[in-house]
Amino acid sequence: METLIPTINRLQEVFLTVGAEVVQLPQIVVVGSQSSGKSSVLESLVGRDFLPRGSGIVTRRPLVLQLVHVTNDVTWWCLKYAVFLLDSCIFLFQGISPEPIYLKIFSPKVLNLTLVDLPGITKVPVGDQPEDIEAQVQEMILSFISNPNSLILAVSPANSDLATSDALKLAREVDPDGRRTLLVVSKLDLMDAGTDALEVLLGRVIPVRLGIIGVVNRSQHDINTQKSLEDSTRDEQAFLQRHYPSLASRAGSRYLAKTLSRLLMHHIRDCLPELKTRVTVLSAQYQARLHSYGQPVEDHSATLLQIVTKFASDYCNTIEGTARHIQTSELCGGARICY
Ligand code: GDP
Ligand code: MG
Ligand code: NA
Repeated sequence: METLIPTINRLQEVFLTVGAEVVQLPQIVVVGSQSSGKSSVLESLVGRDFLPRGSGIVTRRPLVLQLVHVTNDVTWWCLKYAVFLLDSCIFLFQGISPEPIYLKIFSPKVLNLTLVDLPGITKVPVGDQPEDIEAQVQEMILSFISNPNSLILAVSPANSDLATSDALKLAREVDPDGRRTLLVVSKLDLMDAGTDALEVLLGRVIPVRLGIIGVVNRSQHDINTQKSLEDSTRDEQAFLQRHYPSLASRAGSRYLAKTLSRLLMHHIRDCLPELKTRVTVLSAQYQARLHSYGQPVEDHSATLLQIVTKFASDYCNTIEGTARHIQTSELCGGARICY
């Protein structure tokens, strides 16, 4: 699986050079109410803490993260500082903005994924926020998740009622059949004594077709005392073993990362036939246009087709190779998912 994603990243780069609107490749978009744990979930997927986090609207602009798996590490403090500066500048001058910040992250600790961190759904304007802040943020979120090629990661805290989850509500608006929505239940550790999220995680409260994954991220205290993400993941596993032994192998940040990677590949596979058709059509269109100019011009479209074709064949080979290892179906969140 992981050998395929560099091909997809390359494909994306090639498409960008001929116009980004040519094809929309899948990305994972995180939605949820303010402080539900969106940035924390993304950080545990990335394996590094560099996103602005805390109370208030900390994420003010969409942040598009392209994670690229490499064998060497980068200087993370540098990245952390850059994000902090960008975020501060935007706060000072613009408030919330729909213009995304793009970041490409090279790390040995990531799966190859494109992730989008969005500002949280807000209800009431605070400070100098505009009156229509809720509508503004909502519109921005909808613009990202209505893209049919977005996998939606709806984050809802375990200590608030799932039936009123803003994240799920917005996801349902653009994905009524739940074909591309995964529910992440955060803050399992913050539930009232005597309650647990078992029924929710089993999909008995609200079924979610692609699955429901419970996680425990770092608390604000953990962040303040600089608890490492490694320690956090270890403690998360211990917590799950203790409180949800029957679900421990299908919960937690690591399982989330694996599930996402798998869903992404399936999404890409589903997009391939259309992608090929579009490249062929575009190629023919541009050829015709070039001919109409009456000048001999080199044909670059062949490269695109070759990449798409290579991807398709790589994909098929890998799927055949891994089919034996992947269960054909799995029970998750009470919903049956077919892989
Ligand atoms: P966002 O606004 O949705 O991006 O939320 P953040 O990721 O910034 O988290 C908001 C606050 O909740 C931070 O102080 C986090 O430390 C805390 N937090 C997030 N997830 C969890 C969790 O699973 N357990 C605990 N105890 N705290 C969490
Ligand atoms: Mg955030
Ligand atoms: Na929510």
